Amino acid sequence: MLNLTGSVHVAPDADQLYDELAASLLGIAVESINARGLFHLALSGGSTPEPFYHRLVIDPNLRHFPWLQTHLWIVDERRVPEDDDRNNYRMIRESLADHIPIKTRQLHPMPVMENDPAALYEDQLRQVFGSDDLPRLDFILLGMGADAHTASLFPHSDAIHVTDRWIAVNKGDAVTPPPRVTMTYPLLNAARHLGVLVTGSKKADTLRKIETQLQTAPAPDEMPITGIAPTDGDLVWYLDAPATGIVD
Ligand code: 6PG
Repeated sequence: MLNLTGSVHVAPDADQLYDELAASLLGIAVESINARGLFHLALSGGSTPEPFYHRLVIDPNLRHFPWLQTHLWIVDERRVPEDDDRNNYRMIRESLADHIPIKTRQLHPMPVMENDPAALYEDQLRQVFGSDDLPRLDFILLGMGADAHTASLFPHSDAIHVTDRWIAVNKGDAVTPPPRVTMTYPLLNAARHLGVLVTGSKKADTLRKIETQLQTAPAPDEMPITGIAPTDGDLVWYLDAPATGIVD
């Protein structure tokens, strides 16, 4: 079993993993609403979570998911218009948001085409949370690239070093184009629950490298995902067996 920060949840295949992640998400949503009246969920883009978002729509066990009390935030976004294929919100809308009973005012796409999207998104967080304090999102779903990036925090990129903002624009040579807008470590690590969803054998080597690195110390600049360490929440790695490298 992989030894990673937080806990590791392994399912035999991606299908079962989606079911188990969906069940955890429902449990956390209900618990958040019972405790605070709302559920703040932040979702990532990429190809890995798309079938999971679709599952959230069709799973009969989730028929009563409390979407009416859910706010949907975006972890990171490419600075392209919403109708561009590379836009994360477009994928999240088409696979999930268009098919669930969630109010438009509870959907929070990043205003990536504006001049200062980071400040605008931070304002939205302040407004919805009704406070200037660092917001604690209830559940953040992250993915991971083969280079160990997460959100749009790429190895050696500027946003890795941002400690005084919740949201940052990330661009430059170290960023896979186009330029991005991303949640920063302070906001990500303030979450009550963080899940990292990784499927498939292609990322097994990366997970091994992360495990080895974590035995010494986190190295966010080289492997950004090692900077994910919730300050007062929990972190669960949701892996299918191929991602662990144990089976193929
Ligand atoms: C994005 C992401 C990013 C993603 C990883 C993994 O917008 O691309 O938020 O961090 O999770 O790049 O992407 P895949 O799931 O496509 O491998």
